[in-house]
Amino acid sequence: MDRIETLMGEMTLAEKLGQLTMTAAGYAVTGPIIAGDSTEAIKAGTIGNLLNLVGAEPVREMQRLAVQESRLGIPLLFGFDVIHGYRTAFPVPLGEAATFDPQVWSLTARESAREAAADGLAMTFAPMLDVARDPRWGRSAEGPGEDPFVGMRMAQAKVLGYQGPDLAAADALAAVAKHYVGYGPVTAGREYASVDISERTLREVHLPPFEAAVAAGVAALMPAFTDLAGLPMTAHVALLQDWLRGRLGFDGVIISDYNAIGELRQHGVAADLAEAAALALNAGVDIDMMSDAYRRGLPIALARGLVTVAQIDRAVRRVLTLKQRLGLFDDPYRRGAAPEDAAAVGRRRQLARDVAARSLVLLKNHRAALPLAAGVRRLAVVGPLADAAAEMRGPWCGVAEAEGQVSVLAGLRAALAADIRYAPGVDIDGEGMTGIEHALEVCTDAEAIVLCLGEAARMSGEAASRAHLGLPGRQREFAEAVLGRARSSGTPVIVLLFSGRPLIVPWLVEKAGSVIAAWFPGCEAGNAIADVITGRVSPSGRTPVTWARAAGQIPLYFGQRPGGRPANPNDHFTGKYLDVPNEPLFHFGHGLGYGRFTLSNLQVWPRRVTAADTLTVRVDVSNVGERAAEETIFLFTHDKLAQVARPVLELKGFGKIDLQPGGRGTVELQLPASELRFLGAGLEPVLEAGEVEILVGPSAQRSVLLVEIIRVFV
Ligand code: NOJ
Repeated sequence: MDRIETLMGEMTLAEKLGQLTMTAAGYAVTGPIIAGDSTEAIKAGTIGNLLNLVGAEPVREMQRLAVQESRLGIPLLFGFDVIHGYRTAFPVPLGEAATFDPQVWSLTARESAREAAADGLAMTFAPMLDVARDPRWGRSAEGPGEDPFVGMRMAQAKVLGYQGPDLAAADALAAVAKHYVGYGPVTAGREYASVDISERTLREVHLPPFEAAVAAGVAALMPAFTDLAGLPMTAHVALLQDWLRGRLGFDGVIISDYNAIGELRQHGVAADLAEAAALALNAGVDIDMMSDAYRRGLPIALARGLVTVAQIDRAVRRVLTLKQRLGLFDDPYRRGAAPEDAAAVGRRRQLARDVAARSLVLLKNHRAALPLAAGVRRLAVVGPLADAAAEMRGPWCGVAEAEGQVSVLAGLRAALAADIRYAPGVDIDGEGMTGIEHALEVCTDAEAIVLCLGEAARMSGEAASRAHLGLPGRQREFAEAVLGRARSSGTPVIVLLFSGRPLIVPWLVEKAGSVIAAWFPGCEAGNAIADVITGRVSPSGRTPVTWARAAGQIPLYFGQRPGGRPANPNDHFTGKYLDVPNEPLFHFGHGLGYGRFTLSNLQVWPRRVTAADTLTVRVDVSNVGERAAEETIFLFTHDKLAQVARPVLELKGFGKIDLQPGGRGTVELQLPASELRFLGAGLEPVLEAGEVEILVGPSAQRSVLLVEIIRVFV
């Protein structure tokens, strides 16, 4: 008999429920605290999994208790939110998405996994794959942005990155795709609120990234806190059992979100903890994170006949199988056995700097104010985010310490020999305005002003919904004062905008010379920003989310359907606002560089396809600017006539090209015709005969796209 079956035969019910339980170990600023309660339970074999224990030593000690002092010696599984880095903070996922580079997405995950595994961890609660089309929702920062295709590519890249080629390796983490599914469209962007979307939207937009994660071999999944039309995801039999396990064949572990099983009572679907536990187990949730519902509730649920021992056994087998796949039975101390060498840490910092530079999106660059002239002598660096090293980490920065982060000011001082003067002006989120005068003085005589504005890191991520998406506190007054002064002196102003979402700042974009969406760039923020501002690196980020002009436009995303009365400025009775254009402030995919590109000669072949064909799409790209730069090319399709109205644009691919000034090249993308399928009226995939537009260009702005038409035969 194999190891798992032998153990199954020996385990008591309490030990089995222990394997289905994950509890927090907790840690404080001064160092790890080993939760007293867990210690005894681990020895008793009634806790099988821990989260939030930090440091190779405490992890090893806890593992020793489980392996050497518990009756059956089953190793513990240690999980942590390694979302955009563990010790080394990389850009937030939304910023990383802006690189449109799956290799980057994989690399940062790989490096984060190495770093976290060196502390003994074996599971990360990542990647977060929720498509987010409502920037009020703070968790927009944690995911791929508004588009399901980007989500799919990111899912695949992240799973491969975290898990590596061999899940049992000492540097591999089990990835947890979350939050399954449809958490992004919470009502009014309000955190944890109910979700009510169509089956079609669920299937077309929100499920595909999870399907991609499953196809990539993700080890585990986490249901969302939210309910979908009244059915909480933690208890959603149709989506967990039937779709995920049944249709997608997912046989990995399903781990609840933090206290989510217990919260089935607050949702109003479970009368007590036993019912809550039964609902979750019946839906296929294997591990209970932090509700203690399985240990306390399942024995009662068994007695009431709400669940069976066979169901519990199935869940336990899945957890033990994951531990086996992670190599924990063979060597429970493999992860965290040796500290990383300094060179590995140095390489990781360099990667953090490169990726941060590539995540910056140059939204506007009036009169080519950027890059800064090489001989700049006097610079003013002002604003509440200018010397805010700790904020640069972003909202889910693992255990990255505040001291190790590079602020904008520090980065620019390191990069430039200029006289750099600094003043914060105002707080990120305060009411005080007394610092404005001093900041204006600091700007006097500067040859350029770097104005650092935006959100605090805590304003993004979990429980960080915002109804006002402008600059918090008194930053607008401050910025207007600086911009007004600069206008009269003719000083260029470069705005660095830090946020975990697209902010709504049309006034700022109009008045500032240059604007960079910096998201939260991570530990190397200041150095990466200096690389771009000084021209050492040409900005290449593209926004993975549409930027609205007004909150009333939300949700605003490129993949909308045309409707029966598409907007027409000359016709009153068409789909538009009376008080704001339909057009976004910045389209999905927008982003400038220091080069200037023209696209020509779009070629698509074959022009007549069946499901078995693959389209080749080629476009010539020329850099007619004066600097070397990278261009990103997006491939969209539009099915103009179908049994179900299709979105005006559907993203199907993207590619990049680096070109010297005057350089010419070709970007080639492949598109299997089978990907032109869509869900028909009965929600089954269909490929319809007819014409399909193939559109290629630098963003989702329809007027800049080159178009060819192909014909599909079935
Ligand atoms: C709650 C969050 O929703 C989830 O994303 C996270 O992994 C868990 N807490 C654990 O920290």
